[in-house]
Amino acid sequence: MKNPASSLNNKNKFLILGCGFSGSFFAKTIRKLGYTALTSSRSENKDPNSFVFNSEKNIVPDKKIFDGVTHILSCIPPDINGNDPVLCNLQGHLKSLSLEWVGYLSTTGVYGNTEGDWVSEIDKPNPLQKRSHRRLNCEKEWIQSGLPVQIFRLPGIYGPGRSTFEAIKNQKIRVISKKDQIFSRIHVADITNAIIYLLKNKNTLEFHQIINIADDKPCSQIEVIQYCYELLGLKMPKPKLFEDVKKELSPIAQSFWMENRKVSNKLLCKTLGYKLIYKNYKMGLKNCLLNS
Ligand SMILES: NC(=O)c1ccc[n+]([C@@H]2O[C@H](COP(=O)([O-])OP(=O)(O)OC[C@H]3O[C@@H](n4cnc5c(N)ncnc54)[C@H](OP(=O)(O)O)[C@@H]3O)[C@@H](O)[C@H]2O)c1
Repeated sequence: MKNPASSLNNKNKFLILGCGFSGSFFAKTIRKLGYTALTSSRSENKDPNSFVFNSEKNIVPDKKIFDGVTHILSCIPPDINGNDPVLCNLQGHLKSLSLEWVGYLSTTGVYGNTEGDWVSEIDKPNPLQKRSHRRLNCEKEWIQSGLPVQIFRLPGIYGPGRSTFEAIKNQKIRVISKKDQIFSRIHVADITNAIIYLLKNKNTLEFHQIINIADDKPCSQIEVIQYCYELLGLKMPKPKLFEDVKKELSPIAQSFWMENRKVSNKLLCKTLGYKLIYKNYKMGLKNCLLNS
């Protein structure tokens, strides 16, 4: 597929919808590179570059906010009814703009359970959870919107301020073992840098509408927790068997353990040539510890 936009230039203006963990990292990085970036959150704050967008309260941004915007990144999940807050409230206006690119952060949950096998973008999504069916519907609606959208499917996101270290520090850690259970993950800096890499090289790279951003080393949760304890110089508590503790877990936590897959990053890292900053959880967690 031909690439719909040119690569980045200094006239570009970014709008980051949903300035949570990934959105704020993206905004901070893109501003450091000299681009303008406005960000949304659900409530007022002191940041002069922030505006309020809250679909739950029917607060939509003033149209003036969109003046000159060329790039939009939506980091907002589906609402409680499974609808996409951005498409439901802003689609008409977005289509009236001359947007070069729209990024949408989705989840690898749409692939469902592969019982530990690798999944890639060419595999047919097979969502297991209701929320993943809804997410897949949102992806389809983004594609059908006709906007120049690119979808990024993400596994568990971690980074400074949101990692196993915080769970240990806040005594929320649960050391659970489940045979052959694998999780994929991605450091927040690689989400941002991969997207910027793709934007910067738009003119030379083939366009792919759906791209996984995951690190090179899917592995068990316990391996990650063990490494965090090692870095902290502490002894890891004895693991509990998943079957023994599953009833104590919240429904959402239980649902994560019901899916087992390894997310392939070959499209991003081999075909498109992106070089991960944090190839595996060890590299990423060292960064989290240094910056926590
Ligand atoms: N966390 C993970 O491990 C993970 C894994 C895979 C995919 N994802 C998906 O990737 C995306 C980014 O993840 P993240 O962890 O960086 O997200 P996050 O920190 O939870 O941020 C979500 C953002 O969306 C905004 N938002 C939520 N509901 C909204 C609504 N109804 N109207 C307007 N704004 C709304 C929030 O506003 P406030 O700032 O006001 O709270 C926040 O800025 C999300 O779609 C998430 O579901 C996350």
